Amino acid sequence: MTLWGGRFEESPAELLWRFTVDDSDRRLLADDIEGSLAHTAMLADVGILSADDAAAIASGLGTVLVEARSGEFAWSDGDEDVHSAVERRLGELIGSAAGKLHTGRSRNDQICLDLRLYLCRAADERSVQIGDLVRVLMGLAEEVGDTVVASYTHVQQAQAVPLAHHLLAYAWMLLRDRDRFQDAQVRIDVSPLGAGASAGSRLPLDPANSAARLGFSSVFANSMDAVGSRDFVAEYAFCCAQTMVTLSRLAEELVLWASDEFGWATFGDAFTTGSSAMPQKKNPDIAELARGKSATVIGDLTALMTLQKGLPLTYNRDLQEDKRAVFHADDTVSLALAALGGMMESAVFHPPEPSSMVTALDLAEILVNRGVPFREAHEVVGGVVAGLAGSGRALSEATAEELAAAHPQLSGSDLEALTPTASVAARVTAGGGSMESVAAQLGALRDALGD
Ligand code: ARG
Repeated sequence: MTLWGGRFEESPAELLWRFTVDDSDRRLLADDIEGSLAHTAMLADVGILSADDAAAIASGLGTVLVEARSGEFAWSDGDEDVHSAVERRLGELIGSAAGKLHTGRSRNDQICLDLRLYLCRAADERSVQIGDLVRVLMGLAEEVGDTVVASYTHVQQAQAVPLAHHLLAYAWMLLRDRDRFQDAQVRIDVSPLGAGASAGSRLPLDPANSAARLGFSSVFANSMDAVGSRDFVAEYAFCCAQTMVTLSRLAEELVLWASDEFGWATFGDAFTTGSSAMPQKKNPDIAELARGKSATVIGDLTALMTLQKGLPLTYNRDLQEDKRAVFHADDTVSLALAALGGMMESAVFHPPEPSSMVTALDLAEILVNRGVPFREAHEVVGGVVAGLAGSGRALSEATAEELAAAHPQLSGSDLEALTPTASVAARVTAGGGSMESVAAQLGALRDALGD
């Protein structure tokens, strides 16, 4: 059913239908009906609808909502979009009074309303999911205790850190991703209902009334902005894309950690895949796909930015394409969070002890503590490292004589500071790689999650 036959003598061409109808708005069905219920109540409150008509429409919409929620709503091939489908079904149920539902409203404010209701809820759901993944990382951080690994810069071993510190770095990144969804929700949570086609109406509508009924925090200030803007959709997609990028970085680490070369972790059978050819393989496909799918979500964000670029006000049909992109972005991030969470939860960590070369900066700082300028200390330790590397030894394998010969302020007793574990134990920077810092971070993360 179309809602606009009046001025047309011919019916729509099959090609027009195929090109313009996109059933991705079907998932907005329940939100569309909720919006219509609020609109109907507002129309009755301001006296545009009689109490009888409003009651008939509300009761019919109630039935349609039950059908929608139970999955029994019957779509018809002739439904142009979700709005038309609801009005058609309402007509079947209550007859001509259904024709009064669309009073003071346009599909332009209606589609925007539906999408805002949907994304408000989705932002909450994604926030909860991200919080759950943060908790998985915190659980692992507690589980690995004081296990020490190397931090990396340029994918070269850098300094000794607790493995928990490395895991919690992702917890903080994800917490910001969660906060971004919550912040975006502030701008999504604005009702466009009452903006109509573009300019509002000569009927005494009360946008604040319907907004309050739907639980919105605020109401549009400019009807043209309300129906013509989709920055809230692009912002939501950015939240999805940035979260996918965080997951993609974590995923890349899981791939490395699972390799024989790193050997840091093993993942559960239920969360890894085999090879059809090589019987020995246990592949981290979930991580690889999280990494790969981040590309498609970045694509969704690009589509949404490009969709808005150059569009004159107000509503243009181009905007119909926003739903496919943002739903794909949201579905993908939701599944990726869950799948990667499961994979992480199944992890067993067994990293090898890093080379004591990761304590080179410690040795330089020991000299600094004894009054040697850092630049000179760096040079001295560089010389020690070069000598040891030549004979295939790491720092803790230096002899007392070699240390004493390198600088008068050094002696064999400094050797005990040159193990990865001793390095972590000596770390004093707040927020740095130490077990004290890990404990403080776990407390702060619990506070941020409200646990
Ligand atoms: N299907 C449209 C969309 O998704 C909503 C209806 C737009 N209004 C119109 N006059 N064609 O954006």
